[in-house]
Amino acid sequence: MPTKKKAPPPLPANIVVPKTSRRRFYGHGLPGVDLERLTGGLIVVEGADGSGRSTQIARLVEWLEGSGHATVQVGLKHSALVSEELDRAQQGNILSHTTLSLFYATDFADQLENLVIPSLKAGSMVLCDRYIYTLMARDLVRGMDEDWLRSLYGIALIPDAVFYLNVSPDILVQRNLAKKKCLDYWESGMDLGLSRDMFDSFLKYQALVQKAFRRLQALYEFEVVDGNRSMDEVDADLRRKITAVMMGK
Ligand SMILES: Nc1ncnc2c1ncn2[C@@H]1O[C@H](COP(=O)(O)OP(=O)(O)OP(=O)(O)O)[C@@H](O)[C@H]1O
Ligand SMILES: [Mg+2]
Repeated sequence: MPTKKKAPPPLPANIVVPKTSRRRFYGHGLPGVDLERLTGGLIVVEGADGSGRSTQIARLVEWLEGSGHATVQVGLKHSALVSEELDRAQQGNILSHTTLSLFYATDFADQLENLVIPSLKAGSMVLCDRYIYTLMARDLVRGMDEDWLRSLYGIALIPDAVFYLNVSPDILVQRNLAKKKCLDYWESGMDLGLSRDMFDSFLKYQALVQKAFRRLQALYEFEVVDGNRSMDEVDADLRRKITAVMMGK
């Protein structure tokens, strides 16, 4: 019988970002931020639509809070500033690629400034359901300039860990259909005219986004996690990796 891997113990409550790993921005950053004071942890879970990000983040929150860490969750289109307007704009297809990109960048910047940075200052564990990489991957697929995107997202803080849940396209379709009963216009890349059939477009679009992620992985270090496994297996793997990162191993 295969031996079952033991789940790691709770993350010790006194863990803060190791003093040796100084926090940094990817580029120019935001003005007036004292990086030394950002003592919390910044963890990103990336992955395609329906890859299991919310499932894993909910479990991580339970684990972290259970071991005495305050947690804060951040995600795309969650900013108080523009999330409603962005949602409204996406009910049609009226924005140019650049304008839509900047709309998402604004949503990101607002959360970074008003939620992520204050929470890190308070010593919380910040869990991001997607980060700049999804935004960049989507924009790269739409033909936007890579250097321009890297400069734009130079405002972002470098996370302590980035996990990319890698799920095969056929399993992604199954999970999306099981959850929502239909595919989403934008997550199927229907704006790109890849196919009139949404199912076909979804597969083509997700393959392009995965290719863009592989390109980004060469530029930004993130860890690919096999998301095809059971929820429990992925969960145990993420806990182990986060424990190692936060304990400075
Ligand atoms: N490891 C797994 N094995 C099987 N099913 C899973 C797994 N992880 C998540 N699911 C199921 O797949 C569906 C999508 O999961 P979830 O909502 O966590 O994904 P998501 O990446 O947050 O999706 P979205 O992009 O829509 O926010 C849900 O029905 C969930 O129960
Ligand atoms: Mg989700």
